[in-house]
Amino acid sequence: MDKEKLLEQAKEFLKLNDRGSFTVPAGELYPHQWLWDSCFISIGLRHLDIERAKTELQSLLRGQWSNGMMPNIIFSEGKEYHRDRELWRSYLSPYSPDKIATSGITQPPMLAEAVVRVGDKMKLPERRTWYKTMFPSLLRYHEWLYADRDPHKEGLIILLHPYEAGLDNSPPWISEMRKHSMPWWVRLIEKLHLDGVVELVRRDTRHIPPGQRISNIEAMVQWSALHRLRRKAYNSEALMSRALFAVEDLAFNCILVRANEHLRKIAETIGRPLPEELSGSMIKTIAALDHLWDETKGIYYSRSFISHKLIEEPTIMTLLPLYAGCISKEKAARLVELLASRKWFKANWPVPSVPFNSSYFDPLKYWQGPSWVNTNWLIIDGLRRYGFNNEAENLLRKTLELVAKSGMWEYFSPINAEPAGAPNFSWTAALIIDFLQS
Ligand code: GLC
Repeated sequence: MDKEKLLEQAKEFLKLNDRGSFTVPAGELYPHQWLWDSCFISIGLRHLDIERAKTELQSLLRGQWSNGMMPNIIFSEGKEYHRDRELWRSYLSPYSPDKIATSGITQPPMLAEAVVRVGDKMKLPERRTWYKTMFPSLLRYHEWLYADRDPHKEGLIILLHPYEAGLDNSPPWISEMRKHSMPWWVRLIEKLHLDGVVELVRRDTRHIPPGQRISNIEAMVQWSALHRLRRKAYNSEALMSRALFAVEDLAFNCILVRANEHLRKIAETIGRPLPEELSGSMIKTIAALDHLWDETKGIYYSRSFISHKLIEEPTIMTLLPLYAGCISKEKAARLVELLASRKWFKANWPVPSVPFNSSYFDPLKYWQGPSWVNTNWLIIDGLRRYGFNNEAENLLRKTLELVAKSGMWEYFSPINAEPAGAPNFSWTAALIIDFLQS
């Protein structure tokens, strides 16, 4: 593998998707700024240009709502602007910013991690200033998560739409939505096999083979859930009072545990104590992760907030408590066994987003089988935290080989490395830079 060449390619693609103060995930398919994408992107950019890495994160703050919510998308001026702005209509909420159009929901809270990783590249005085710039917004974001999305004060954050999970159409979400959020008209369309018509209005399948994306029926269900959010002006209380589904998403909550740890570190560095209520909630989340563990199966699941039952669909999320870093060594070792099992996650090109033994597994379908570089990055970090250094180094090597062989795509078949989704994908490029330069 030619590491120099890989690095040059990664830099080139990031530049291609650079829009000045932020980077789009992929030019054609994703023309706006996405929350967790920009976090991963800044983690790569910090090795190239620290000022640009800072700008990537600061530009996310443009979209923050007055209640603290960080939206998953900030729309860019351009040919898709009006359509997407009208799809989401964030202006319906009194909390949305006046001058900027955003979505009305959030995404995994990677921001604190990104702030710290970028800060790691600075000397202490400069890092302090950087932390001081980002801290107020970060604090308001974490406070919003608990105030708005943990109504019973149990410590687990609830998500109201699969897009908030980042792993958009992961099996637990698809199964929950099919069970509880399938409008009559979508059922009818499915029964009459009329779903082909939807193809005409979908942007993703204009760019990407339909087999690599969600089905038209799933797309309609997601669209109708979004429509409901919009009708209720993104007011969580109104939404939850008659909600049919709300998910305590495993990946999101694992990322939050780690983000909370970072937030505490940032606060300590700049000498600003965290509010007591927030500190209490942060501790609760650590303990609450245990409620997502199924001892008999030896894996973690997401849970339905409505029924309080685990959603028994195994996915790559079960490995993310490693990244959270708060589970016991014994549980961590059990997760690492799954990584080494052919029935589960052991693959020629790891780590599949859904294990091989899941009925959902499809090597090229969006979050239902393919390997992604960002989840590998999180798992590698988690493996190192628990001292599984060989496993971490093997996965790192395999990830580099995968991208060197197939290119900087959005996702890849875990069986034969076939690239899929969008080409020139920014977080793939950025995290490859981070792997090569760290
Ligand atoms: C897809 C992914 C999501 C990502 C977005 C932009 O929707 O599921 O995680 O943030 O694309 O890349």
